[in-house]
Amino acid sequence: MMFKKLTTAAIVTLGLATGATAKEVGPIENIDFSFDGPFGTYDQLQLQRGLQVYTEVCSACHGLKYVPLRTLGDTGGPQLPEDQVRAYAKRFDIVDPETGDTRPGKPTDKFPASALAGAPDLSLMAKARAGFSGPMGLGINQFLKGIGGAEHIVAILDSYTGKEKTEYGATLYENTAFPGGWIAMAPPLAGEDVTFADGAPNDLKSESKDVAAFLMWTAEPKLSNRKEVGLLGIGFLGLLSVLLYLVNKRIWAPAKRKAKQAAK
Ligand code: HEC
Repeated sequence: MMFKKLTTAAIVTLGLATGATAKEVGPIENIDFSFDGPFGTYDQLQLQRGLQVYTEVCSACHGLKYVPLRTLGDTGGPQLPEDQVRAYAKRFDIVDPETGDTRPGKPTDKFPASALAGAPDLSLMAKARAGFSGPMGLGINQFLKGIGGAEHIVAILDSYTGKEKTEYGATLYENTAFPGGWIAMAPPLAGEDVTFADGAPNDLKSESKDVAAFLMWTAEPKLSNRKEVGLLGIGFLGLLSVLLYLVNKRIWAPAKRKAKQAAK
């Protein structure tokens, strides 16, 4: 009796809990990113373009406080030459944690935190939103189609309807990809917001993809290493399976022979 009551209560609570998180979000489009799939790696030029979009547009409000500036030079990342990393770091005014003075940034510093209080830090956003899309936010689309945080970010940047409303003195913008449908971020990109040195297209969709790829890198800088180790592991386990199969056959061979003779 007691048990039955408890399970009913648990089921009801579970139902309510999933009901509460099940927000209607418009369909999120799958995008073929270079880092998808078991062999995927980042596209260095795309990361550089994304860094540019972040720097020229998003950094006005958002920070990347967990990302060390020196990693911009890492292989597998945007891989800026050392002098460019140093020049890039200098554009930020950093409060030195030791002296308390403000000085130009150095590669050993991290990106500054968000400049606008309401704007979340973007360092880990692409991972935080990885399982966001799909029915009831269960991450089914991520599992089946590889739709993850990068797609969510593209969708957010690309799904403004143009409608606005004011609520408690704050302006909200209608966005079909944002849970609840209204977001406090004004549309940050309109297309042709930046000019890329490599001549890549700078329409809204392209800029969104580039900055989403960059934010995927900030959240998961060692993605390709992790994939390599995973593949090595699978290869090793495969080899081990073959060896164990052969060993097993060998061990039981005499017993099998005996059984065959007995049957004759
Ligand atoms: C004018 C300030 C401003 C600019 C510029 C800006 N944002 Fe935002 N952003 C915000 C605010 C405020 C929020 C919080 C919105 C909310 O929770 O309703 C936000 C939220 C977000 C989110 C989180 C959405 C979610 O799922 O919770 C992402 C991702 C994001 N911004 C990406 C970007 C990118 C990429 C750029 C640059 C192309 C950018 N933002 C430029 C103010 C800004």
